[in-house]
Amino acid sequence: MKRIVCEGPNSLRGEFIPQGSKNGALPILASCIIFDTLVKINNVPDIQDIHTMKSILEGVGCKCEYVNNSLIVDSRPIKSYQISWELASKMRASFDLLGSLVYRFGKAIVPFPGGCLIGNRKVDMHLWISKQLGFNVKIDSGNVIVEDFNPKNVNTEISFWLPSVGATKNATFLGLFVAKETRKKIIFHNVAIEPEITYLWDFLSYNGLKLSYNLDKRILEIFPSEPKFSSLIMVDNIYDRIEAGTFAIAACATRGNIIIKDNDQEKYSLKVTLSRLWELLSSIGVEIGFGSDYIELKAKNRLKSFEVSTDVYPSFPTDLQPQAVSLATSIEGISVIVESIFDDRFVYVGELLRLGADINVVNNKFAIVNGGKKLNGAPVKATDIRGGAAILIATLTAEGKSILTNTYQIYRGYEKIVEKLSKLGANIFEETEKILEVSNV
Ligand code: EPU
Repeated sequence: MKRIVCEGPNSLRGEFIPQGSKNGALPILASCIIFDTLVKINNVPDIQDIHTMKSILEGVGCKCEYVNNSLIVDSRPIKSYQISWELASKMRASFDLLGSLVYRFGKAIVPFPGGCLIGNRKVDMHLWISKQLGFNVKIDSGNVIVEDFNPKNVNTEISFWLPSVGATKNATFLGLFVAKETRKKIIFHNVAIEPEITYLWDFLSYNGLKLSYNLDKRILEIFPSEPKFSSLIMVDNIYDRIEAGTFAIAACATRGNIIIKDNDQEKYSLKVTLSRLWELLSSIGVEIGFGSDYIELKAKNRLKSFEVSTDVYPSFPTDLQPQAVSLATSIEGISVIVESIFDDRFVYVGELLRLGADINVVNNKFAIVNGGKKLNGAPVKATDIRGGAAILIATLTAEGKSILTNTYQIYRGYEKIVEKLSKLGANIFEETEKILEVSNV
């Protein structure tokens, strides 16, 4: 594995082109299973989680080809409705395939995902929704088995108790199956409306599946339908708002000046999908200019400390919470960052403390950052995708050399991150990790 060496402090300057969205591509890849044809997705980031999803699809029999950031999935040869634990254990999004496998086979066996590095990520609502939709649900040998659809047991109007992103994806695929089988409309209330979800819905609608959504009311309605036949379905992925937000925050933490390329399609533009981030940055004194297809950020030396709380879209994203904490360490005064989605998303803070940050995490709910202290380079370890990105931002602001290990976590979500930071002027490079010889005494 490569480790990342960074010599700070740095100031990021220049132009940045975001990668295709990780969390946008994953559900579209899952949806390929419901189309019995070839699907070509463009602008798919070259990151570990995408390669894991590709292997999972190949594991159930799909043929996949990844060339120049385009991924072609042929689900015609699919033969299995069971995902192996070896692959599923690498990525929680494997659970998203539950709904699309059921759509295709009427049955799915998917490993129970368990907790992870950012908390106890439950799937109880996925299971409850499956039962509400008329399926029998069992847990056996660590697998969730959804099968034996009975139209008599279908509840056609279901209210989520929280707008879960993952449960909304599975409910969409299961709902399409049930609407098709029963010829009835299925209505879901309190669904997730993250842009990556609405993009999936738009993609499905464009390809013949009938659904409509109301963003203000968080309602999804699914009508009886079949996919439109096409020998090749093509789709362009949206920009990754979390990668773009990470670079925007890195530019501010290093008091830099960057221009981020934006999508000119208003609904999925970063200007819209990251509006809470732009509001926060402008409230602390960052100058922000919006062009028709770019966003320019200029961070002055003195920024104001802040308070922010994560919540479901359109609020401030939890996937930018760790990066916001790193930004706060660079700003004099007390900042408070509240996490309200995950129950253990401050694991990375220990690594920021190693760099000299002054942060108190209270009940795993919020971080109180006493910012403006000089950070010093140190050996640090990436904890998870976004925590790893936050640690990397802190190493950019720290004085001296930092060596970041366990970079696998960062490469799960960020394509060519070192190359991109280096182009923006950071003194950063990758090197092959030396294997320590451990003596036997
Ligand atoms: N939850 C339940 N029961 C459920 C489902 C969820 O209690 O049945 C709880 C979870 O325990 C968690 C919260 O609801 O505390 C949010 O979970 P959600 O289902 O909304 O998230 P997810 O589908 O597991 C996706 C992203 C995450 C992102 C969250 C929130 C993908 C592949 N993952 O996860 O992205 O943080 O939504 O926006 O889309 C990342 O990219 O680094 C990442 C973690």
